[in-house]
Amino acid sequence: LLLCGGGVAAVTWLVTGGLSVNTVGKVAFDRPLKVPPLAPSVVDADGRRVFDLTAQPGDSDLGHGAGTRTWGYNGAYLGPTLRAQRGERVAVNVHNRLNEPTTVHWHGMHLPAKVDGGPHHPIPPGGDYQAAWTVDQPAATLWYHPHPGERTERQVYRGLAGLFLIDETEDKTGLPHDYGVDDIPVVVQDKGFSGGQLSMDDRFLSDLGVLGDEILVNGTPGPYLDVRTGLVRLRLLNASTARVYDFTMSDGRPFAMIASDGGLLAAPYTTRRVRLSVGERAEIVVAMRPGERVELRSARTGLGVVHGGKDAFDVLQLRAAGELREGALPARLATLTKLDPQRAAQRRTFTFQGRGINGDQMDMRRVDAVVVKDTVEIWNVANGHDTPHSFHIHDVQFQVLTVDGNAPPPELSGWKDTLFLEPRRRYAVIAEFADYADPTTAYMFHCHVLRHEDEGMMGQFVVVEPGDTPRLSHN
Ligand code: C2O
Ligand code: CU
Repeated sequence: LLLCGGGVAAVTWLVTGGLSVNTVGKVAFDRPLKVPPLAPSVVDADGRRVFDLTAQPGDSDLGHGAGTRTWGYNGAYLGPTLRAQRGERVAVNVHNRLNEPTTVHWHGMHLPAKVDGGPHHPIPPGGDYQAAWTVDQPAATLWYHPHPGERTERQVYRGLAGLFLIDETEDKTGLPHDYGVDDIPVVVQDKGFSGGQLSMDDRFLSDLGVLGDEILVNGTPGPYLDVRTGLVRLRLLNASTARVYDFTMSDGRPFAMIASDGGLLAAPYTTRRVRLSVGERAEIVVAMRPGERVELRSARTGLGVVHGGKDAFDVLQLRAAGELREGALPARLATLTKLDPQRAAQRRTFTFQGRGINGDQMDMRRVDAVVVKDTVEIWNVANGHDTPHSFHIHDVQFQVLTVDGNAPPPELSGWKDTLFLEPRRRYAVIAEFADYADPTTAYMFHCHVLRHEDEGMMGQFVVVEPGDTPRLSHN
């Protein structure tokens, strides 16, 4: 298996300057886990579910006193959880109350390029913007975050990020589904502090950007969660700017992985580890016994020298009540229709190397790929050097066809929008670019290590009707 790392033992991970840290056993777990509130919404006269998000500065207690200056949506740090049903029309009114431009990108969402929230449409300080679309994709844990040109790392690091959950009209799975009770958002971020403030100084800088030495979950340092059910569903999001996590339970117990970025797996996959690079999500279900305590950890990866190689973190303590409401895991979760490689209308190759893709850096005037609407494409994505990357495509969910020519491991068997690119490995992914064509507006694909993205490791694709050609409107 990919996760076991045997095959990559020979690879040297050249990541300079990263802190080598180990917090396992040192975290107090003395604060109740904060759960981001569900965002209120109103259904307007047109039948659309309307949300409001205000990006704003504030002060937070992240474990270094109450005066840490942070940014958040509708609050001081992170943002509320948006939630909508498949088939619903939604509109989000975004207000920028920061002193610099920002955007909001709906990561993992299938939507028109015009409302994708990329760097072409900055919202100026004091400005407002509305994104509206129809939610039409399977139930999933998606997220939102800023995506302005060259400022994404610092804006996310200051605290701008939130979850966007999609539900099926009717949930027939029987999975834990009570938000904040047995269905828990777990937004994991690493931070460095200096003088009580979030720091991006040299001490925390590496080839990947900032690597902090403390972990926050939903903005809570040293968090614990009171569990009242025998099965607890954790929606893990790596909302860090650079760090990779290799999630495991402190006693090594197996758990069930039930979903990847874009939705449920076909069936629960029993494992002891789930690795997430920046931007990736996994949903897991952990079985608990009455009265016990167990911790979610990020273990030392089996990957070699990732950001110092000795990184291991305590993340979240689960504290089971003396009596637990019983639950059972379904044997089947979803029907996953495999995209057929025979249908591919186009094959492309993108090699990640240096700070470019195929040697090019982001240029908002250049279109790197013209995709015909409603066609299937295979993208061969290679990491050509020794730095790890995280590959993300906007608008679509893809399936992984191969990893170094082999069938993907079970954790990569479902819908994905972000993929860890291990050094010197090759991946083939397949996606259908359905529904939305717009010759005037580009979608992005890029490295989700946010410093790499800011430094230009990003390209653009435009989806057009057959026979049409792009003519970008923002140039
Ligand atoms: Cu999560 Cu282009 O980003
Ligand atoms: Cu990268």
